[in-house]
Amino acid sequence: RKARIAMLFDMHDEANAWFQRNLTMEAGAVAREYLTKRGMTPDVIRKFGLGYSPDDWRGLESHLKGKGRTPELGVEAGLLSQNEKGNIYDRFRGRLIFPIQNLSGRVIAFGGRIITDGEPKYLNSSDTPIYKKGDHLYGLNLARSTMTRSKRALLTEGYMDVISLHQFGYTDACGVLGTALTPEQVKRLAGFCSRVDLVFDGDGAGRKAALKSSRMILLQGVACRVVLMPQGEDVDSLLQTKGAEGFEACMEQAPDGLDFCMTTLRNEFAPREIMAWAKGFLTDLPDASLRAFYLPRIAGGLGLSEADFRRDTGVSGPPRNTPGRR
Ligand code: CTP
Ligand code: MN
Ligand code: MN
Ligand code: MN
Ligand code: MN
Repeated sequence: RKARIAMLFDMHDEANAWFQRNLTMEAGAVAREYLTKRGMTPDVIRKFGLGYSPDDWRGLESHLKGKGRTPELGVEAGLLSQNEKGNIYDRFRGRLIFPIQNLSGRVIAFGGRIITDGEPKYLNSSDTPIYKKGDHLYGLNLARSTMTRSKRALLTEGYMDVISLHQFGYTDACGVLGTALTPEQVKRLAGFCSRVDLVFDGDGAGRKAALKSSRMILLQGVACRVVLMPQGEDVDSLLQTKGAEGFEACMEQAPDGLDFCMTTLRNEFAPREIMAWAKGFLTDLPDASLRAFYLPRIAGGLGLSEADFRRDTGVSGPPRNTPGRR
């Protein structure tokens, strides 16, 4: 098993080198043009190790074969795909490639963005013994040292969001990888910093994700802020058009996580749903001191006295609600 894992890592190195080489070659001209159009500088392209997979069914497959890897191993590594007939072919075709690294900087998976027309816009490696979706964060190994100093993480939805933030000097940025934020990811971040700032898209999906994500972060006793982008923008588009100044303006207005939740609930939910959310949040808090901290804030946010809030929800206060009850 150990040998197999080592082989999966090695195959990712081989694929990564091949993707990166393609970006510099003639076939990669279209991808280089795309990156220029999106304002990516050579520095960040190098820092994030971007690459290109030519629009070809057998490019990586042949390359790996040349390295002595069977097509079946390529499928196991999540780099090649297999159809119902059993034919094996390149999973990533005609895509800009984002290598995903673990905390030791080893490449464990790839994301690929289509650069001409086609679907889906993004394609990611499938789960393998070295990569499980929801366990990793894009760019975390490049952001961890800054996070330790700034004591905060900027957390984005997208690949390009992370890269643009680094390009504009925000090197404590990393990204959720195409899923809802998971408790594992929050634990990982909490290992480096004490606050997570959600830098999410200014659309309905972004707001919804921010509500869920901030709840989960707060439940783990980690502080959080919500930096929602203007309607129709993400932080990449904002930085590329308005620069760091535009982003700073958003940061200055960013509410803390609980305030964001309370405002969003009041704006978008019925009173009964709000009470259910508040009760659920307090019940899910893992310890009494956190409950004692949040209960008055939530009651206040709903315009209720603590006593009324307790009576309405049935949530008891800290004195009776000792950790022993859990
Ligand atoms: N995503 C995904 N699969 C998709 C769409 C999105 O995995 N089909 C993930 C990607 O990690 C993507 C992120 O969700 O970066 C955010 O999606 P979206 O905002 O739609 O894309 P952007 O990152 O803004 O991409 P771009 O700027 O290149 O259009
Ligand atoms: Mn979006
Ligand atoms: Mn974008
Ligand atoms: Mn986006
Ligand atoms: Mn507050």
